[in-house]
Amino acid sequence: MTLPRIPLAGVIGSPIAHSKSPQLHRHWLKTYGIPGYYIPMDVSPENLSEVVTTLPKAGFVGVNITVPHKEKVMEIADLITDRAILIGAANTLIFRKDGKIHADNTDGYGFVENLRQGAPNWNPKAGPAAVLGAGGAARAVIASLLDVGVPEILISNRTRIRADALQQDFGKRLKVVDWVQAGNMLEEAVTVVNTTSLGMIGKPELRVPLDGLRPGAVVTDLVYAPLQTRLLRVAEEMGCVTVDGLGMLLHQAVPAFERWFGVRPTVDAAARAAALR
Ligand code: ATR
Repeated sequence: MTLPRIPLAGVIGSPIAHSKSPQLHRHWLKTYGIPGYYIPMDVSPENLSEVVTTLPKAGFVGVNITVPHKEKVMEIADLITDRAILIGAANTLIFRKDGKIHADNTDGYGFVENLRQGAPNWNPKAGPAAVLGAGGAARAVIASLLDVGVPEILISNRTRIRADALQQDFGKRLKVVDWVQAGNMLEEAVTVVNTTSLGMIGKPELRVPLDGLRPGAVVTDLVYAPLQTRLLRVAEEMGCVTVDGLGMLLHQAVPAFERWFGVRPTVDAAARAAALR
């Protein structure tokens, strides 16, 4: 008698204890009655390649990849989606039946789906977007904003050279604004995104002047701990439509769960509650 194989998945990072992905995937496994496991793995950079290539043989159908491995893991993959190449990083691996390791990046997808769900009237084509920050998260946000037809992206970063590099990579629809003038770029923006780590628990607040925010603009913060940042609090007071960053984490997990376990999960209040546990 051959026993049915129980599919295994997980998340690889270092550190990994703070990751919300295990609670979320376990909630979905339970909700849909799937006999699988989702396991957090703390793996150092020097062991990444060995761990990733061993997991398929141990019954894993795939893994999420988080800090600090999202760029490095691209070197291990056999196939890489166009969107992961564009972003220069992967957050999801699929271990295919033919033995090939497939790398994808669903962060931009999660970002857009979060805005679509949280701000149903959001029209990204209606005007420019303003993006604060130029790190790894900004790359995924910019790629997806361009993909949904944003006419222009104004980007500002403390270290200007990083914003200039993004402008070089993504082209003429991007305009770089000096960090000291970041508040000015909010005046025209119909979409505003904080991709910096400012406002996160343990980090300083985002101090960019916010009085230029347009009422009705859709404003989101990738920071989700705390859920309510200064940016979102002020934006709400000014009549903007605000969307917190937790939804991006939930939505980016959807395509991975579907590929690994064969069910497309729903992002609802129960999924949010599970991620916050
Ligand atoms: P991630 O991949 O999560 O985007 P990152 O690459 O370290 O992480 O980028 C963090 C972002 O937060 C950057 O835009 C960073 O600005 P710099 O490029 O100037 O470092 C921004 N950031 C972090 N701390 C900041 C601070 N104290 N003031 C202004 N920006 C800050």
